[in-house]
Order: sequence, then C-alpha cells, then structure tokens
Amino acid sequence: SGLLGKSGARSSGLHALTLTQMLGRAFLGLRGPALTRGLGTKGCWNNLVSPKVFTLSRTPSFMTDALINGGMDGTILGNELSGTTEHPLKLSSLLTGYYRYHAGPEGLNTAAPLISVLRRDNFKALVSPSVLQEQVLDSLRVYWTLRGDVPVEDPAPVVKQGVEIFMQTHTACPTIISRCEWGAAPYRGTPTQLTLPLSYMYIHHTYEPGEPCVSFEQCAAAMRSMQRYHQESNGWDDIGYSFVAGSDGYIYEGRGWYWQGAHTGGYNSKGYGVAIIGDFTVRLPSQHTLNLVKDELPACAVSGGRLVPTYIVHGHRQMVATECPGNALYEEIGTWPHFCVSANDSICAIYATLHF
Ligand SMILES: *[C@@H]1O[C@H](CO)[C@@H](O)[C@H](O)[C@H]1NC(C)=O
Repeated sequence: SGLLGKSGARSSGLHALTLTQMLGRAFLGLRGPALTRGLGTKGCWNNLVSPKVFTLSRTPSFMTDALINGGMDGTILGNELSGTTEHPLKLSSLLTGYYRYHAGPEGLNTAAPLISVLRRDNFKALVSPSVLQEQVLDSLRVYWTLRGDVPVEDPAPVVKQGVEIFMQTHTACPTIISRCEWGAAPYRGTPTQLTLPLSYMYIHHTYEPGEPCVSFEQCAAAMRSMQRYHQESNGWDDIGYSFVAGSDGYIYEGRGWYWQGAHTGGYNSKGYGVAIIGDFTVRLPSQHTLNLVKDELPACAVSGGRLVPTYIVHGHRQMVATECPGNALYEEIGTWPHFCVSANDSICAIYATLHF
C-alpha cells in the first residue's frame, strides 16, 4: 500500500501507512466543522537561544504539525530510500543532509534538494490529492482489519474532505515562520484590522540589511533588528511589512494576514507589503526566494481568501517616491504575471480583467 509510485519497493509502504493511517483516523474522529481547525498546531519555544519550554499556539490536535511534518518527511525520505538500489545508502548522511542543510551565500536555490526546508515542495511533487485519498482509505481498511472493526458508514466522503483540508492547511501555503518563532517583540498600541480580500501586493527590498539572510538564525535576527528599528527609531507600532522573505527558504510573518501594515504610505489598507531581505539595486535574490514571493505566497493568499484572484503586483516605487525595491528587483517584478505598470487603480483593474 505504498503512497509512492517510484518503485513500489520494500520500504515505501511503512512510511505511507504511518501518515495516511493517522490522517484517516484524525479525519474520521473530527468530521464536520472540527475538521477545519483540528489539524496541526505550531508552537514556540520560550527562548530562541536556550529553549526550555515549548508552548503550543492553541489546543493540540491529534495531528500536530510536528507529527504531520514527520509523516511528510517519512514519505519523502522513504521514497528516496526505496529508489536507491545501486549502492548501500548511509542513513546518517541522508538525515544529516536533510535536517542540517546550509544554504550557500546566494541563498537557497530552485533545484529542490532533499532538505527539510523544502518539505512542502517535495511532498507536493510526490503526492497528489487523489492518490492521498486512496491511500488514506487503504490505510484505514488495514487498520480496521487488524482491529477487527467494521466502519458503520462509507468513510470516503469524510476522507475526501479531510484530504482537501490537509492539502489546504499543510501544502497550499509555503512555511511561514510565525512571530513567536522569530522572537518578535509585542505589537505596540492597537492594530487596525484589514478588510479582506485585498487587491494588491506591494514589493519591497529591505535595503538594510543589504545582504540576503541564508539561515533561520540570520533571518530571525534580521527580523528582530528591523522590528526594533521600526518601533524605536520610526516610532511605529511594529515591523512595517506584512511578510518578509528570507533567502533561507522561509517566509517570515510581519503584521500577517489580518493587520494593516506600515509599508506603502497611503496604500497600507489596500495591499500586503512583502519585502525580501537584502539590497536588490544591482543583484537579485535567489530564484527560490523570488518564486516564494512571485507564486507561492500570493497563491496561498488567494486560496485562503485573503487576496482577490485578480490581485495586482506593484513595486513600492510606483506608489511612493523611493528607490525601493531596487532597480534589479523592480525590473524583475516587471516580468511577473500580476504586475501592473500603471499606478492607477482603474487602469490596473481593466488590465486585470483582460489578463487574469
Ligand atoms: C486613472 O485613470 C482613469 C482612466 O484613464 C482616469 O479617468 C483617472 O483620472 C485616473 N486617476 C488618476 C488618479 O490619475
């Protein structure tokens, strides 16, 4: 009952069974509205340097993110192992490479290597929703057979819904590092709630720091230093950006999906402000970083009802007198499908209806 098509060899079934059986039991145990909030929860350590206490962000579910991540990793690594027949594979080097990967100075790049940072990309490339549905049902049949139980009703509709929710919550969006994970200071004052869905995404570079960050430690430190600067020197309530892309493979949560940012003067209530860490006047971020901002984050926002499907991309400089997001990055975003060269709302709205 392997989840994977690669070879159907000896090890594929076990990894698949763990994830699919747990998912199946979670779907059946939850059903209805509970299903939508019953999968996964992240949490945070009390301290990034010497962590002692881990607090879950809400009531833990049967399928925590840690369990789901482990199941996804098992699927990815199991597939790799089952496809390796030529030479004895050192499991320790596979695991070390997977969990202790370090990006080069240019940041993580496209050719999706087998690393935990790219878990969602690699999982999506291996597993389609329809295959996952079948496999969850197969796993449940095995589970019931072993227990001698008989299901009272057809599990297929619940499993179908569950797989949709799982794909939405755990693969439709890139991994977003939450505020508590990067060690954000509290918001100062009272935030303004955005009216969703928004219609714009404004692209920024941070300029300072000027170097792309290529590890979680570097990117988290950059987030804390920008937040400190925005709060203490600018006197703002919080870091200005809605989201920030590192070159370590992750998106970092700034003000997030629901709260108005301070990124694009006069337009903060209309769009999300997304910055890429670095100075992109003469060079570009890595292709992987660009794809996160060009495709993955907006696709996630659209599927979650936070951005309209006809959203428009603008560079910061189109709205405000500034060099941001740098000449090189501005030229790059000019080639993105949702970019509108005009800063005029009505012209961009017409352009959007004609093009997407
Ligand atoms: C935007 O374009 C429309 C249509 O060309 C025009 O009527 C309007 O005055 C423009 N708005 C601004 C603020 O320039």
